[in-house]
Amino acid sequence: MCGIFGYVGEPTEVGDDVLAALRALEYRGYDSWGVAVGVNGHIGVEKQTGKIAQATVDFPTSDIGFGHTRWATHGGVTRPNAHPHLDCTGQLAVIHNGIVENFRELRDALIGRGHHFRSETDSEVIAHLLEETLAGGVPDLARATAVVFDALQGLNAVIVMDVRSRELVAAKTVSPLVAGIGSLGVAIASDALALRGHADRVVYLEDDQLVRLSKSGLTLYERKTMREIPVPLMALDVSQGDTALGAYPHFMAKEMAEQPAVLEHLARGAERPIRELAAAVRESYGTFFVGCGTASYAALTGSYLYSRIAARHVNFVVGSEFKYHEHFITPQSLVVALSQSGETVDVIEAMLAARKRGARLGAVLNVARSTLDRMVDLRVHLDAGPEQCVLSTKAYTAKVAVLLLASHALAGTYERGRDLVLSAAEGLNHMLAADWTEQVQEVARSIHQAEHLFVIGRGLAFPTALEAALKIKESSYIHAEGFAGGELKHGVIALVAPGTPCIVYAPNDETRADILSGAMELKSRGGYMIGIGPTPDPVFDVHLLTPDVADAAPLVNALPAQMLGYHAALLRGNDPDKPRNLAKSVTVK
Ligand code: G6P
Repeated sequence: MCGIFGYVGEPTEVGDDVLAALRALEYRGYDSWGVAVGVNGHIGVEKQTGKIAQATVDFPTSDIGFGHTRWATHGGVTRPNAHPHLDCTGQLAVIHNGIVENFRELRDALIGRGHHFRSETDSEVIAHLLEETLAGGVPDLARATAVVFDALQGLNAVIVMDVRSRELVAAKTVSPLVAGIGSLGVAIASDALALRGHADRVVYLEDDQLVRLSKSGLTLYERKTMREIPVPLMALDVSQGDTALGAYPHFMAKEMAEQPAVLEHLARGAERPIRELAAAVRESYGTFFVGCGTASYAALTGSYLYSRIAARHVNFVVGSEFKYHEHFITPQSLVVALSQSGETVDVIEAMLAARKRGARLGAVLNVARSTLDRMVDLRVHLDAGPEQCVLSTKAYTAKVAVLLLASHALAGTYERGRDLVLSAAEGLNHMLAADWTEQVQEVARSIHQAEHLFVIGRGLAFPTALEAALKIKESSYIHAEGFAGGELKHGVIALVAPGTPCIVYAPNDETRADILSGAMELKSRGGYMIGIGPTPDPVFDVHLLTPDVADAAPLVNALPAQMLGYHAALLRGNDPDKPRNLAKSVTVK
């Protein structure tokens, strides 16, 4: 979601630099963008709707500038609603990530006091509040920002610019911000990736802090008291892997293809943290797995794996619903968040709530030093390298592999788990070969114009069916739904018409007979049956053969749906890396 970048330092082509940094944040998902540069005594602003693509900006050399990629929450996708927003004087500008929950009352009051609003956003109130606070005698921008930030309700990250004092000030709650020092000046961003080339030492801002960026460097304050505190700088580490597309046409294709290597790496190298996670589950009195979107389906898969492999009950809750379950949390509970980015706000809020109740916190996550990484007691890093396609592929299989290994660790059969993950990696390598891929492309051609598509699975394959449907709808925009095979006759079957594509997960396990009879019921109503599994069956109109890897089946079963979604997206003219309305890092509620 919204991306933020700002710079103060030696005069440079700051407009171009900001735009380049915003490009590094594009993967988060956005619908409009804007750049502001301090030009002599005023602030120059350029904003656009749509993607940055080949866009350029035209600003003179300057010592101060910032920019923003916006994912609309309050106010449509229009140029005036794109950030930065100015105050009435044009001397102050603001960029913002989050939602100012009390913006209506603030805005009405500001309008009542004569302020002129140019956008429909909640964010613009910040610029006008700041204008009033400074005019009211608060002596400097840092203090004024602290006052204004205090008046905002919700989870917000804010950066303000004052062209007179030529400084930026930033504060945040939950939404991430990282500031850094480089050879030419200081910079701040919502993601360390955007600081590459601008900083070599960085500090991750905490919720109770405020940071000032000026020619003299970074100044850090305790926000409530405005007492200056030391800046705990650490080296910028964005060397977590390869961010280039290489020979692949899309990041989705690249990241699907990386799955075997990611699994192998985990199976061989993550034993210690995985055993720690297993031990924490053993010691807890009640474990909860929490995640959103694709990560939630990895979490649900985990609850099945723990049950069948380690005979251990693990609760599963989606991040945004956690607050309705938190009454069960005690200091004996273990709450484990699953998250690629480590920044999903619904997951972070759940973890904050769990911490308040004294629970032990764990995480299975990909982005090191993310908010989640910094707040938990124990962690397993997926080490899957940057995932840049908005749709999650390799991080999903990596999370499932960690949970498979951890449930085997709990059962005292770690080596069996490792062998299974390695066989799944080998199986995926075969599936990524040309002949198998061509078969999927063929199936994609036959279904890409469908309006509806259904996916069924039972047991361990039920969460896979949910994830498969999600992947297909996110990429192709075909309406796809996943169901537990047994639920068919309780509603879904009413929607099956002649030719409706239905994907059936039929592993060689105890679910096979029942799922095939469900498939027969769909076929009898005209469903076009796409079977996924290690053994053919006459009920399948087309069969995508997968290797038999026993309880590691979720690891090989994700790929057919990922590939189907990818190819259907291409056939429908969609960009699979940046689907409409979706964001990679969901940092607002
Ligand atoms: C967004 C992304 C999904 C992702 C989900 C959770 O919705 O588009 O691909 O699964 O957020 O993200 P996380 O970073 O917490 O795994």
